[in-house]
Amino acid sequence: MRLVQVVGARPQFVKLGPVSRAIAARNRAGAAIDEVVIHTGQHYDPQMSEVFFAELDLPRPAVNLEIGSGPHGQQTGRMLERIEAELLAHRPDAVVVYGDTNSTLAAAVAAAKLRIPVAHVEAGLRSWNRDMPEEQNRIVADHLCDLLFAPTDAAVDNLAREGLGARTRLVGDVMYDAVMANVLLARQRSRILEAEGLLPGAFAVVTIHRAESTTDDRLPLVLELLGGAAALGLQLVFPIHPRTRAALSRVLPSWRPPAGLRLIDPVGPLDMLRLVEAAAGVVTDSGGVQKEAFILGRPCVTVRSETEWIETVADGANTVVGLDPARALQAMRAFAAADHAELARRAAARYGEGRAAERIVAEVEALVSSPSPRESAGG
Ligand code: UD1
Repeated sequence: MRLVQVVGARPQFVKLGPVSRAIAARNRAGAAIDEVVIHTGQHYDPQMSEVFFAELDLPRPAVNLEIGSGPHGQQTGRMLERIEAELLAHRPDAVVVYGDTNSTLAAAVAAAKLRIPVAHVEAGLRSWNRDMPEEQNRIVADHLCDLLFAPTDAAVDNLAREGLGARTRLVGDVMYDAVMANVLLARQRSRILEAEGLLPGAFAVVTIHRAESTTDDRLPLVLELLGGAAALGLQLVFPIHPRTRAALSRVLPSWRPPAGLRLIDPVGPLDMLRLVEAAAGVVTDSGGVQKEAFILGRPCVTVRSETEWIETVADGANTVVGLDPARALQAMRAFAAADHAELARRAAARYGEGRAAERIVAEVEALVSSPSPRESAGG
C-alpha cells in the first residue's frame, strides 16, 4: 500500500512523527506500507521547518513544493495544483492530512477530486468562529475526507451533528503520542533553559501568531495584555513567529518589549517542550500549545475569544481571556497554585493512551483493503 502524507506547517510536522513511527512499526511486523511525505513548503524558514525534521527524526519529504507565503487563495491554489500533480505521479492508495492549515485544505481537495481515499487526522474540532481560516479549512476537510480521526469525545459529537458520524473514528490525540515521545528527548537534549538563563517555575512561555491576533487593531491590545503580565514579576519568554514579528514592525515599528518580556527567535520542537514543561504557565493563541501545556500539566491562558479544545477549560487547565488584560492577569496569578501532576493526569484521561497513531494506521490499512472504500466509509 502506498500512503501519501501531506504536511506543510509546524504543527503538522509534530503530528507526522507518531504516525510515521506507527507505519515503521507495522512494516517491521510484516506490512508493506510505502510512505511518501509531501511537504507543501507553507513553512520554509529553517527554524519553522528543517529543525522539526532534524530533531524529531521525521522521514525526509519525497518533495518540497516550496509554495511559501501568500494570500490565502493564492497559497491554497498553488498547493492544490502541485499536490494534484504529485498524487497523479505517486498514485497512492490513500492520503493522510493533518489539522487545519491551508496545506490541509489543499491536500484534502486534491485527493477527494482524484477520488483517492483521504483521511483527516484531528477531525471534528470546531471554534464556531468562521472568521478563522483554520475553521474554514477544517470544516471543508472534514466534509471531503473518507475517514475522520477524532481526538476527543467533543470532536466526535461535532462530526455527528454534521452528519459525519459513520466516517468518524475516535482514536485519541496524536499530539499526546507526540508529547509523550518528544518530552523525553527534550529533557535529554534541550539546552534552552541554560542558554536563556531560565529557572524552572520562574517564567511563563508566550506564543502569539494567529491572523486574528496580528491585525493592526488587535496587535496593540495583545501587546498591552502582555505588558501588564510582564509587570507581574514573572519573566515572560516569547519565541516570536515570523508573522508576528512582521506585524510588529508594520503596526508598531517603534515598540520595544518592556522589562520582563523577552522576545527570542522561534525555537525548535524540543526546546519548546522543555520551555513549556519548565514554565509556571503558558500564554498563547495557538491550539497545539494549549494542549502541550495541558498534557505537561501546565496551566494555560488563551488569548482568543474561544477554544476548540474545550476539555482543557472543563478540566481547569485553560482560561480563555480574549483580549481582556484583567482576566489574563487574574489567570496568571493563579499559575503558582496549579497542581501539575493532577492536570497531567486529567489530560491523559482525555487524550488516550498514546496509541492514537497506531489506531490511525490500522484504520487506514482497513480502509484501503476494503473492496469499496468510499462506500464503506459511509456517512
Ligand atoms: C499557519 C496556519 C495555522 C497554524 C500555524 C502554525 C493557515 C491558514 N494557518 O499559520 O493554522 O497554527 O501555521 O505556525 O494555514 N512566515 C515566515 N516563514 C515561515 C512561515 C511563515 O516568515 O517559514 C511568515 C510569512 O510572512 C507569512 C506569515 O508568516 O506571510 C504567515 O504564514 P502562513 O503560513 O500564512 O500562516 P501561519 O501564521 O504560519
